[in-house]
Amino acid sequence: MQAARDKGIDWRRWRDLFAARQDRPLPDPFAPEPALAELPGSLARSLAIFQLGESGGGTVVGQARHSAIRGIDRDFAEAMALFVAEEHHHAELLACAVRMLGGELVRKNWTARLFVFGRRLMGLRLKVMVLLAAEVVGICYYRLIASRLPDSRLKSVLLDLARDEATHLEFHCAFLRTQAGSRWRRFVFRVAWRTLMQAAGAVVLIDHRHALIDLGIPFETVRRRWSSIGRRAEWKVCRASPTGDDSQPFYFPVASRETADEPLTDDACCETLSPLPGGCTS
Ligand SMILES: [Fe+2]
Ligand SMILES: [Fe+2]
Repeated sequence: MQAARDKGIDWRRWRDLFAARQDRPLPDPFAPEPALAELPGSLARSLAIFQLGESGGGTVVGQARHSAIRGIDRDFAEAMALFVAEEHHHAELLACAVRMLGGELVRKNWTARLFVFGRRLMGLRLKVMVLLAAEVVGICYYRLIASRLPDSRLKSVLLDLARDEATHLEFHCAFLRTQAGSRWRRFVFRVAWRTLMQAAGAVVLIDHRHALIDLGIPFETVRRRWSSIGRRAEWKVCRASPTGDDSQPFYFPVASRETADEPLTDDACCETLSPLPGGCTS
């Protein structure tokens, strides 16, 4: 248990952070909003797929509890359990959103099955890397969808989800940083991470293409945004000092100009995440 503290990651902070927000109430069923009446049906289908993806994750808790790898402790395992519970809270919020939009929840989806299948084959390190990729996709997707919605409960829920995913991104980066102590390990991480991000990006574009097209979100914008956030995550794992300020979680504000009435810009991600060395262009 002392090992994690010696390496500068005090997992109690993460446990306490997730514990402090675990009692957030579920909203009443979302009332239909006239402003959202014209949204395409493909959006409900797309959110239903994300709802399914937010519903899993239980096996990683058991692995965290029983893993003997260095750099983690009982507090990490408890934080992981609370993180999974928070993802389940997201699933419940998205279920409310899907029903409000008149859509139906899905029980099976090929990308969700692929995601779960991959995770079950993996050890804790690779599994957390897959979870990190899901956070990048979630931040990117929820914010882009929200940017195309009028002010509404759905929009604020999606922005709240994106904020949570940013915290999760920090949590996973903190863990992976403890596992990337040597140059060789960082090289392996970079290769695996970039490959995973490419694959995850292609899968999400294919699976959610109808909603993206119907909402007028260019694929290139999606790609550039998750590339920027993905590079930021890679930098945090490979370059940051485990004991420096970079280990502190951040909470990004919503960029006020990212509204449905204004064009999506590629640098919007840099407004919300800490500056990336080398700028924001991909
Ligand atoms: Fe989530
Ligand atoms: Fe998340």
